[in-house]
Amino acid sequence: MARIVLGSDHAGVRTKDHLVGRLAAAGHEVEDVGTHGTESVDYPDFARKVAIRVAEGRADLGILVCGTGLGVSIAANKVPGVRAAVCRSEYEARMARRHNDANVLCLGERVTGLGLAEATCDAFLAEGFEGGRHARRVEKIHAIEEELS
Ligand code: RB5
Repeated sequence: MARIVLGSDHAGVRTKDHLVGRLAAAGHEVEDVGTHGTESVDYPDFARKVAIRVAEGRADLGILVCGTGLGVSIAANKVPGVRAAVCRSEYEARMARRHNDANVLCLGERVTGLGLAEATCDAFLAEGFEGGRHARRVEKIHAIEEELS
């Protein structure tokens, strides 16, 4: 079981709330940083909360949902140590974990229905990083952060 932190804006709250309940029922340790309603909010505020918790090791993995998945991924990837990936399929979710060691899954509620969101989430959680040649590439991503810090 994993420690998973989830967040969304108003455009992703239905999917986020659904996944929070589903992951908790499956036995994961779940933290929900909001938003908690459909009032319009700004997605970077929630991406920041999720990303910082993952970067600091307070959660193993993060899940972010906005309308498209794009805004939350752009914001989350500003936090050093975070590798946030927008995934619209189980295949992308598997590869994001295996090859990119992605630690935040980004979903778009206006693009991905609940069934596909569940399947994409399950695939993301089921996979692990393959390492090997992929480790060198992920290390080069980290080196970019170091170079610019
Ligand atoms: C909100 O309308 C929408 O812009 C946001 O959820 C997200 O899709 C941005 O990338």
